[in-house]
Amino acid sequence: MATRIDGKAVAASVIDTVKEASKALEQEKGVKPGLTVVLVGEDPASQTYVAAKGRMAKECGFNSEQHTLPAETTQEELMALVDKLNADTSVHGILVQLPLPKHLDSDAVIQAILPEKDVDGLSVVNAGKLATGDLDGGLLSCTPAGAMIFVRQTHGNDLSGLNAVVIGRSNLFGKPMSALLLAHNATVTTAHSRTKDLPAICRNADILVAAVGRPQMVKADWVKPGATVIDVGINRIDAPERGEGKTRLVGDVAYDECEKVASVITPVPGGVGPMTIAMLMANTVTAACRQLGTKPPKF
Ligand code: GUN
Repeated sequence: MATRIDGKAVAASVIDTVKEASKALEQEKGVKPGLTVVLVGEDPASQTYVAAKGRMAKECGFNSEQHTLPAETTQEELMALVDKLNADTSVHGILVQLPLPKHLDSDAVIQAILPEKDVDGLSVVNAGKLATGDLDGGLLSCTPAGAMIFVRQTHGNDLSGLNAVVIGRSNLFGKPMSALLLAHNATVTTAHSRTKDLPAICRNADILVAAVGRPQMVKADWVKPGATVIDVGINRIDAPERGEGKTRLVGDVAYDECEKVASVITPVPGGVGPMTIAMLMANTVTAACRQLGTKPPKF
């Protein structure tokens, strides 16, 4: 039976490091790290995520601010807010919650955020630094950065000789995850919806990372015996066994069968999920340290 990674515990230790660094920054410079989250519209899932980010930022000792704009906000209004936050020296990190309402151009907004304040790691400057192997100069996309902590805790920093397969090629996760694994010397395959014989590709993986958004797609016979399996999916499915109309969360990996084959596996919920917010806090304190001229902690 595989060892189950406790994402909550790992996230808590990241948060401890963030709190220490935040306190030290305030003592040395008299400034709290400032995180501003921008939410446009009333998407309930986004409201929940943004509230959780705000709560955690306060717990870390940050100046936490939220701008909530109506769904009818124009591109010009949103760009003007980003410009204002870029110029505000008390704001060290800016996050525009996605998805934005359809009439807005998300990419233009994301690219307008100063790269040094882009705590989502989505600007072309930060993506480019990662792609060129500069892991210390930019800011990393939070979910892949969190998943990579699990990989490093399991295999160390040098993945030489190991095959890694990432299922999914999004800018938010799949591409940066593949780049991180490559920067740590893994031999990386980025698989996606057009990949031929996905199960066979996955069976070659010493490290298998699933981020497709399809409930329990990865089956036991896709997993190489002894592999490390990281499940990034969060899917809500019907759970009639819990009562009428009930639902539950599952990942992209069929956990119960895969844990019999893998040697290390992450659960859903309680695996990668808690790491995303923790790494957002890590990015914010890192951004604040750099902007104030102190050395950021290592994560
Ligand atoms: N919506 C869902 N995940 C994310 C994320 O990581 N960053 C932002 N900005 N929006 C999201």
